[in-house]
Amino acid sequence: MTRYQFDKWGDLYANRALLLKSSAIRDLLSVTARADIISLAGGLPYTKEFKMNKMVSAATDCMERQGNEALQYGPSEGHIGLKKHVTKMMTQDDIVVNTEDLIITDGSQQALDLIGKIFIDPGDHIIVEAPSYVGALDAFIGYEPKIVAIPLDDQGVRVDLLEKQLKELKKEGIRPKFMYVVPNFHNPAGITMSGPRRKRLIELSAEYDLLLVEDNPYGRLRFEGENLPSLRALDDKVVYLSTFSKIFSPGIRLGWVVAPHPILEKIIFAKQSADLCSSSFTQRVVEEFLEANDLDAYLAQLTNIYRGRRDVMLEALEEFFPKEASWTQPNGGFFVWVELPEFIDTTEMLAEAINKKVAFVPGRSFFVGGVGANFMRLAFCYPSEEDVREGVRRLGEVVKDQISLYHSVTDHFHK
Ligand SMILES: Cc1ncc(COP(=O)(O)O)c(C=O)c1O
Repeated sequence: MTRYQFDKWGDLYANRALLLKSSAIRDLLSVTARADIISLAGGLPYTKEFKMNKMVSAATDCMERQGNEALQYGPSEGHIGLKKHVTKMMTQDDIVVNTEDLIITDGSQQALDLIGKIFIDPGDHIIVEAPSYVGALDAFIGYEPKIVAIPLDDQGVRVDLLEKQLKELKKEGIRPKFMYVVPNFHNPAGITMSGPRRKRLIELSAEYDLLLVEDNPYGRLRFEGENLPSLRALDDKVVYLSTFSKIFSPGIRLGWVVAPHPILEKIIFAKQSADLCSSSFTQRVVEEFLEANDLDAYLAQLTNIYRGRRDVMLEALEEFFPKEASWTQPNGGFFVWVELPEFIDTTEMLAEAINKKVAFVPGRSFFVGGVGANFMRLAFCYPSEEDVREGVRRLGEVVKDQISLYHSVTDHFHK
């Protein structure tokens, strides 16, 4: 591993610190906060529709009714009042749990890190989808695993390829520590794992004693069609993560984990050493908010907005993108995943897009091993419908330019 040359403390860092890097893409994307750039990059939940006075009332109620507790440390496993609301929400999703079956975390990102911390020793194998949520990859990579990536198609993870891998690993005497999956409205791929694939995944997990980690931040943001059972609803040995970030607010930094008790206990120990407890204040404000308001009504409103933006994005892709491109058709969530011809490198194309005042996330970020260069993730959640359309129009021009540039160069050499 290369040590920093220009850092006075370069020799002191642990190996895992050297694995933590700010990517060039993140640096490039930092300019997308500029008002003149339409960002289809960040998966920012749309919070402007939220009635802020409701949160003011919740915060006031919280301080009047339970101010002293809100200003104190709380239990590491989370505030019971909030956990009760979470169990109700989980029951609506056909997951039957009690408050002692789950803990509150600082968003599901913390849960991903804690899972890495309790399961991964350097060199251990873990399995992920390809592509996979970049934040999960980053969290796991810090613990130095060997990552086995199983491709997705429009039905979800390729369980046939997974089975082949599991067989090979078993032959070599390797038991992967866990497999991480996002079955609903995948980040970045936008697809949803089909019912039969879910069933087969559960069968394989039983056959190979494979622990499944299911991450479900977008499941309640469905635009059409029937809900499919979560993996946790099919098998209570699955570790299940979700969050208030996409259905309410990422700023409050609250998520949760449901897990079998021995695993949950290890996660609580790991959380104790990470932060003692999640914020007592935000947990209790959210509790007060949920007591006084109908989150489902707000969600229905949000889902309408996201559905409208998804429709506009898909229509604009049809209108402005060249025939060589293809993309997924999400039934919920935030993202459309676009595949371009193999000769296009979207990381290189990003600078050109930013010149044209539009941004996206290049595909390579969501894979291990540098593959995925011809993919890109487009988020329709935050910009207005007009901006979504205009952003896709600008991006379509950039893609068409890249394609004609390629053809003019290759035609020139073939003459
Ligand atoms: C699949 C997935 N998991 C986890 C997270 C982390 O969310 P948070 O920590 O805000 O709960 C995100 C955020 O984008 C996500 O897309």
